[in-house]
Amino acid sequence: MRARRSRSTAGWVLTTILALALTGCAIGGDDGTIPQNALNPAGPVARAQDDLWDLVFPIAIGVFVLVQGLIIFAVIRFRSRGGDKSLPKQVAGNTRLEIAWTIVPALVLAGVAIPTVSTIFSLATVGEDPINVRVVGKQYWWEFEYEDPQYEGVVTATQLVIPEDREIQLDMQSVSAQQPYDPAVVPEGTVNPTGAVSLGVIHSFWVPQLAGKVDVMPGHTREMKIQADDPGLYLGQCAEFCGLSHPNMRFSVLATTAAEFDEWIAAQAEPAEVAEEGLAAEGQELFVGLQCVTCHAVDGHPDNLGLRIGPNLTHWNSRDKFAGDILEVESDDDITAWLRNPQAEKPGAQMPNLGLSDADIEALVAYLRTLD
Ligand code: CUA
Repeated sequence: MRARRSRSTAGWVLTTILALALTGCAIGGDDGTIPQNALNPAGPVARAQDDLWDLVFPIAIGVFVLVQGLIIFAVIRFRSRGGDKSLPKQVAGNTRLEIAWTIVPALVLAGVAIPTVSTIFSLATVGEDPINVRVVGKQYWWEFEYEDPQYEGVVTATQLVIPEDREIQLDMQSVSAQQPYDPAVVPEGTVNPTGAVSLGVIHSFWVPQLAGKVDVMPGHTREMKIQADDPGLYLGQCAEFCGLSHPNMRFSVLATTAAEFDEWIAAQAEPAEVAEEGLAAEGQELFVGLQCVTCHAVDGHPDNLGLRIGPNLTHWNSRDKFAGDILEVESDDDITAWLRNPQAEKPGAQMPNLGLSDADIEALVAYLRTLD
């Protein structure tokens, strides 16, 4: 008897542990071991959302335990016993109970609604001096354009750089940047300011440590704000299935000090240097010959068309990762593998397999390395 009981206790403990593991229940993460822990907020927006969770979750647990407890109690207390097949006593209606179970949940919901609605409103207000960034979700990477006049012309991809302790207001939309804007063929209303046609899908912008997720739609502008308390790298990802490479549509937010941010902006606003000779110059020529310029902008390139179908590469080396934050900029192997067959690295990407020779790739890598 005792052996059976201890076995069933072990069963319960195991089930509980398994359930926690399966729900991804994680505690801590201050040491960076859980880089996408929404319960470890790193800025005021995420903190306000986390505070709301701290309030609502225990209430939800209370309701869960109460309801499940009553169900379990009823199942055990009123089970059929000893072959008794007769109907139990039938009860119809109990005014006091019905009033109670209408009013109590209504009060609980009203109580939860007050902090929820006030948090929603406070997160929708923007302070005096935000930095405005346009976020464009494409298949499968994120483009960031700094919209304020003092940051004019700064367009980057995959890594959003922000200063610490500063409100960042994001205007977000989704496009499928398959063709450049041509007013003759594009119906009105399907065009967004990047000049690409909106055939896009829904993405979702999510940096768990900085803010909750917001869906990013074609043809609509959604807004959200984010803010980081301290310098650091905060990982984000697309959180809405958007096609084959949805899991490869990652990004990061790099928070820096205010001084580092100003330095970064100044460097980003500079055009790239023109490669005059050697392998890099060959690569620069190939960049036109292979039609890379018809998708990628490189400010300063002699034949730059300024198009934004692919990521702006002007300061490509200033980022950590590329190709949706899955490959390392520093790694020649990664960039070589990407140029050899982008589809193998990121299925469904817009970047075609150009059938490049080893010599082409070497020259292109040499050119890309000049873009810092
Ligand atoms: Cu974009 Cu999933």
